[in-house]
Amino acid sequence: MRRSEDMAGAGRASIETRLATAEDLPALEANETAKTKGLSASYLEEQAKGGYYVVVGLIDGEIAGRVILDTRDDDGTPLVPEMKLLWVYPQGRRKGLGAALTQHLEELARELGYDEVFLGVTPDNPAAIPLYVGLGYAPTGEHRSAINLSVIDGEGEGTNDPIEAIFRKSLTVR
Ligand SMILES: CC(C)(COP(=O)(O)OP(=O)(O)OC[C@H]1O[C@@H](n2cnc3c(N)ncnc32)[C@H](O)[C@@H]1OP(=O)(O)O)[C@@H](O)C(=O)NCCC(=O)NCCS
Repeated sequence: MRRSEDMAGAGRASIETRLATAEDLPALEANETAKTKGLSASYLEEQAKGGYYVVVGLIDGEIAGRVILDTRDDDGTPLVPEMKLLWVYPQGRRKGLGAALTQHLEELARELGYDEVFLGVTPDNPAAIPLYVGLGYAPTGEHRSAINLSVIDGEGEGTNDPIEAIFRKSLTVR
């Protein structure tokens, strides 16, 4: 468990990040959208098989987001390890949880022996790109067809053939 306090003084938010457990499923499911329905259970099932880590973030003790570290190399993408499905629920945004989840995931990757992390992001994501760049991720110049569309807010928006830009962060440069 990792904790941090928003330094804004009165009304500060308490932020925690930790690996998900089966007990988190009801809270995760309560925040699913039409687009993400049923996915929380499948993520926890993948975690139980190994090589797949679901990190949850809590604001003032309530689950407010999650991210996944996928270290498997048999899922059809060549990125290992890959940060996937970062999502902070709308009401919890701009409180530092997205950054805290990403940093927890990086620490986990380090502990597992990796010296870099990859991710795919649609190049017009107005929140995620500044977040990643601010944390030291850089575009590799590679692209792929988007596979993480379930994190994109809203229903039925976007192009029919969205692409993701691949970003990478070295975990050895501090
Ligand atoms: C992207 C996302 C995870 C960010 O989560 P968050 O908890 O709001 O992010 P943080 O509060 O940790 O923000 C850290 C920094 O990222 C940048 N950032 C975050 N949201 C931003 C926004 N909407 N516009 C511009 N910069 C933003 C800022 O630099 C911010 O620092 P600041 O608040 O001190 O200015 C969240 O907006 C989200 O879940 N979006 C929908 C899903 C998604 O796009 N996921 C990424 C898929 S690749």
